[in-house]
Amino acid sequence: MKARHLLTTIGMAALMLSGGAAYAQSKMTIGFSQVGSESGWRAAETKVSKIEADKRGVDLKISDAQQKQENQIRAVRSFIAQGVDGIFIAPVVSTGWDAVLKEAKDAKIPVVLLDRSIETKDDSLYLTAVTSDTVYEGKVAGEWLAKETGGKCNVVELQGTVGSSPAINRKKGFDQVVAANPGMKIIRTQSGDFTRTKGKEVMESFIKAEGGGKNICAVYAHNDDMAIGAIQAIKEAGLKPGKDIKIVSIDAVPDIFKAMADGEANVTVELTPNMAGPAFDALMAFKKDGKQPPKWIQTESKVYTPETAKAEYERRKDLY
Ligand code: AHR
Repeated sequence: MKARHLLTTIGMAALMLSGGAAYAQSKMTIGFSQVGSESGWRAAETKVSKIEADKRGVDLKISDAQQKQENQIRAVRSFIAQGVDGIFIAPVVSTGWDAVLKEAKDAKIPVVLLDRSIETKDDSLYLTAVTSDTVYEGKVAGEWLAKETGGKCNVVELQGTVGSSPAINRKKGFDQVVAANPGMKIIRTQSGDFTRTKGKEVMESFIKAEGGGKNICAVYAHNDDMAIGAIQAIKEAGLKPGKDIKIVSIDAVPDIFKAMADGEANVTVELTPNMAGPAFDALMAFKKDGKQPPKWIQTESKVYTPETAKAEYERRKDLY
């Protein structure tokens, strides 16, 4: 009798243990190597990622790389050592990923790229990339400006982080429009590293170099934060942003809608901060049913102008 009781107890303990293991397996742990906190959009992406993880009961471990690839590589190696179920990377720059991605692949840990793409000859190194069409974003921004100015405009360009895929592609897309409009010229171009502070600094130097800025028809900023920095610089130089100098940018964060509603910015192209939602879904379907996602999960890019700015600001201000 005693022996049977002991066996039952052992059996129950085994069951509980296996149940516990099953539970532990069902709660996925995902490591996310985030770029940093360079922009309002980036902060929103981090916030939305946490919300999307909570919705799905995922344990999301976020590592802030402070805009440095070496920190991202270190974080990915640490996630591999921890044996996470999947890894998200928002790659700060587009090159130099093959070695660490190969380590993840060898460890059988699927990697999903968020909001930025990479250059590699071997696309089996990652499961999928959730990004917008960043060339299109630059092109559609340029097309809006060409239409607005009748194809005649001296543009100063604030580029994003050097070597990052959105900086490369947003430039490429806009340049296509410039090439098609002989009256459009990029008279100055420099990186503002996607930050508000550097956007302002670089714009100040452009205004100075252009003898006060009267010759500048528009600012094309690769993100809204740099555009907002530029708006400040333009105002301090005694000019009217949105009127004397048009402001064209990308992201659609609340602050740019506020600027548009105040007549200080002209157009933005939306980049959704919800990259993690589709990434979790793709990863979970892959882990659970072996479902192979497409290599590119494309997010929408929508153009916004001042007519809807006030309503968009109200709609977004608490989401970000
Ligand atoms: O990769 C997306 C870009 O990164 C956003 O447009 C920008 O704001 C951020 O820093």
